[in-house]
Amino acid sequence: MNTNILQDKVVVVTGAASGIGKAVAVQAAKHGAKAVIVSDVTPEPREGGRTTMEEIEELGVPARFHRADVSQRAQVDDLLRAADEFGGVDVMVANAGITLHADGFDVAEADYRRLMGINLDGTLFSAQAAARSMKARGKAGSIVLMASMGGISGAGMTVAYSTSKGGVVLMAKSLADALGPDGIRVNAVAPGTIDTHLLRTSPGIAEAAEGFRPRTPLRRLGKPSEIGDAVAWLGSDLSSYVTGTALLVDGGLLAVI
Ligand SMILES: NC(=O)c1ccc[n+]([C@@H]2O[C@H](COP(=O)([O-])OP(=O)(O)OC[C@H]3O[C@@H](n4cnc5c(N)ncnc54)[C@H](O)[C@@H]3O)[C@@H](O)[C@H]2O)c1
Repeated sequence: MNTNILQDKVVVVTGAASGIGKAVAVQAAKHGAKAVIVSDVTPEPREGGRTTMEEIEELGVPARFHRADVSQRAQVDDLLRAADEFGGVDVMVANAGITLHADGFDVAEADYRRLMGINLDGTLFSAQAAARSMKARGKAGSIVLMASMGGISGAGMTVAYSTSKGGVVLMAKSLADALGPDGIRVNAVAPGTIDTHLLRTSPGIAEAAEGFRPRTPLRRLGKPSEIGDAVAWLGSDLSSYVTGTALLVDGGLLAVI
């Protein structure tokens, strides 16, 4: 469904070449964004097919691709400058995130630090850079952080991942308090099992997701566009009194025992 809820909003999305980030960027265009800044370490979708830029340009919405590794603070700061030509960022979506091949109790130190560098540090750097830009322009912006249901409930096979995503949930709450007086809202979205390359290629997680299916009230995996729609709502003025929350978009999975 196309709407105008993001009319006049400049949207920046990290990890936007693939999966959920791609859907967030494309849905932002479908919901009437003024411009979309697509950022990733590569423009190529991990799942193959058309690039995010191609899909957005087809919708007639101005878009720019900006290469940035979110674990590198200077690159994230530079990314926010890509929104300047459109008047600065209104909606920042810190989506980039990874899983590990081996993420049990004895997760390797190098893997743990790499994951935290992207999932936690990168998310904070993205929010900080966006908040600085919004404050400088006096914008009542919206910052959306990509958490996970794995950041609300734990799992023995995703120790570092769940720890990082639990941190993202508290990051949203803390930043909501820090930035609320400036009119800037900060929320997290916690997807359940969403059918992406990350889900299909994460050992153990793909099987677990299939196991979740019969226990999920809606009896199916989620579509990336369904996360894109939730993010669009949080980015829009329709959620103007919503801040510091973690919105579960999980087909009801965590609602039941
Ligand atoms: N797929 C799911 O079921 C699910 C569930 C809960 C949460 N999430 C979260 O949603 C987000 C997106 O996941 P996805 O399933 O679309 O994954 P994905 O692997 O399909 O896409 C992730 C994108 O992030 C990019 N990326 C990786 N490292 C980066 C870095 N250092 N800097 C910038 N970009 C980087 C990748 O190139 C890729 O395009 C992640 O934060 C993930 O943890 C996914």
